[in-house]
Amino acid sequence: MLAKIKNIFIVLFLFLVITQFLRPEKNEASYTSITTFEEQASVTPEIQSILQNKCYDCHSNTTQYPWFMEISPISHWMAYHIEEGKEHFNVSKWELYTDKQKDHKLEEFIEEIEKKEMPLKSYTWIHGELSNQDAEKLINWAQETRTRAKETPKDSLNHNEVATNVTDSIVTDSIQ
Ligand code: HEC
Repeated sequence: MLAKIKNIFIVLFLFLVITQFLRPEKNEASYTSITTFEEQASVTPEIQSILQNKCYDCHSNTTQYPWFMEISPISHWMAYHIEEGKEHFNVSKWELYTDKQKDHKLEEFIEEIEKKEMPLKSYTWIHGELSNQDAEKLINWAQETRTRAKETPKDSLNHNEVATNVTDSIVTDSIQ
């Protein structure tokens, strides 16, 4: 019996050693990948600090990796959540969302926090809970940003449209 347990531990140990060499690709674009979102969505320094500590790791192209996140299986577990999280909501792609999508993302953002679904439980276990106070600040910010977007004339807000107009005029210019 004892020998069997010993064998199980040896196999487990070898497994852990070997998987250290299978490093998942890191999610480490420079912070500039987030700045467009922060400008367009009027992220204040206070909100920025909450998002950076509790959300950006899985919802942007820029994850902050503490040392233990480099260790398998935590590294693989994290890589999986980052991929999933970014698929649903990625602030580094904010400018690619249409106005309608942006509004919808912010609506879901509020819902996820209200239902206490985000940040993921397994993450707060390591990174600490989102306090009720911070949750309230995030919800208020998201609500204000949605309201402001609806009140602002479209042209000044929608980057995609501006970009298309610029391209259009370049194309027309070169034809003339
Ligand atoms: C450990 C990674 C992780 C962290 C940290 C995290 N999320 Fe998520 N998030 C996910 C994953 C994975 C999904 C998709 C699956 C799901 O909904 O559970 C998701 C989904 C979402 C969605 C839903 C988007 C949709 O289209 O349904 C929103 C909004 C969201 N997260 C907001 C947040 C906010 C706000 C925070 C910080 C307070 C946060 N998340 C922190 C991993 C994370």
